[in-house]
Amino acid sequence: MQGIYTKAVHAGEEPDPTSGALSTPIYQTNAYLFPTPEEGARRIAAEGEGWVYTRWGNPTVAALERKIATLEGGEAALAASSGMGAISTALLTLAAGGDHIVAPHTVYGGTHHLMASELPKMGIETTFVDATDPENVEEAVRENTRILYIETPGNPNLDIVDIAAMVEIAKEHGLHTVADNTFATPILQNPLALGVDVVVHSATKYLGGHGDAVAGVIVGSEDFIKKARSTVLRHFGASLGPFEAWLILRGMQTLPLRVERHSTNALAVAQFLEGHPKVERVFYPGLPSHPQHALAKRQMRSFGGMLSFEVRSGIKAGEEVMRRVRLCTLAVSLGDVRTLISHPASMTHAPNIVPREERRAAGIGDGLIRLSVGLEDPSDIIADLDQALLGI
Ligand SMILES: Cc1ncc(COP(=O)(O)O)c(C=O)c1O
Repeated sequence: MQGIYTKAVHAGEEPDPTSGALSTPIYQTNAYLFPTPEEGARRIAAEGEGWVYTRWGNPTVAALERKIATLEGGEAALAASSGMGAISTALLTLAAGGDHIVAPHTVYGGTHHLMASELPKMGIETTFVDATDPENVEEAVRENTRILYIETPGNPNLDIVDIAAMVEIAKEHGLHTVADNTFATPILQNPLALGVDVVVHSATKYLGGHGDAVAGVIVGSEDFIKKARSTVLRHFGASLGPFEAWLILRGMQTLPLRVERHSTNALAVAQFLEGHPKVERVFYPGLPSHPQHALAKRQMRSFGGMLSFEVRSGIKAGEEVMRRVRLCTLAVSLGDVRTLISHPASMTHAPNIVPREERRAAGIGDGLIRLSVGLEDPSDIIADLDQALLGI
């Protein structure tokens, strides 16, 4: 079996059969020639191979789908126009009105909104629990529960959910498991190998890796992906365009190298922050002080590029760090080559978006700062954070 570096470079791609081009061409077309009316009718009826219309398939997008399926160790994959497109397509393929989902209370904000406010309009309800304790999950399962949703490491305080324990609960109750593997990437964690049914990603983040495209992917069994493509993707239409697919595909060729470097940089930054007088607490699964360090070591190969830390003296101090950083870039998103910094309490989780008490209950403190550690020299990232912290 090939190693992960080889798979990242070669899987899903081969020289173009018509020109010999080594880089997968961008098939910038929305429709494809039918050689005969009968062949057109056959393809539209989805009875066989052959391209029809880019909303339900495109050769560049298909190369990306093959590559991520190989890296995640799944039978098949489906690309979507964003991470949210992938998550909503996966959930709507598995659940219908009257069904129920159990999910961690620390899922990505967009996923939380989808589950708390949009899916209920279709009769799909979600119970959010602290999923770091499997007992809470077990207790939330109802007669009509269909999906156990996992996101680990979690956003923004890097909670770890025990994937194997979740799979065990799901098996016992006949639930589908869906895992958001965006933070870990297939390089550090393979939920399918631990028994999860479906993996979703915001490919916008580490898979693309350069902060220049928005995309999502779903990986699962051949049957599941076929169903998702022919029902929800085809008719809700969250399809990925070929140019974005090509950007993600190119990014993925260097995914193992980047993730390795993101991880070593993040560990160095986390260790520095842990010893800083202006820092109350650091959340990074690679630090022995992380309450779930042992679990993280068991289910991840390394600990990734995301960390958060709590500055002493709250909201004002958090905002002040945002104002003082020079190299770290004040922006949302993550998994970029650049180090990105954000302050949830005054930005993504500001009081007009998430009530203060709810935010605090989810473990997001007033002075919590989230860092997506980039690929710069760790000494430069550290020097920038040090000058910003010493100024507050
Ligand atoms: C863990 C996680 N999942 C999903 C998403 C949604 O992805 P997208 O912005 O590509 O729709 C994000 C976005 O930040 C995320 O952090």
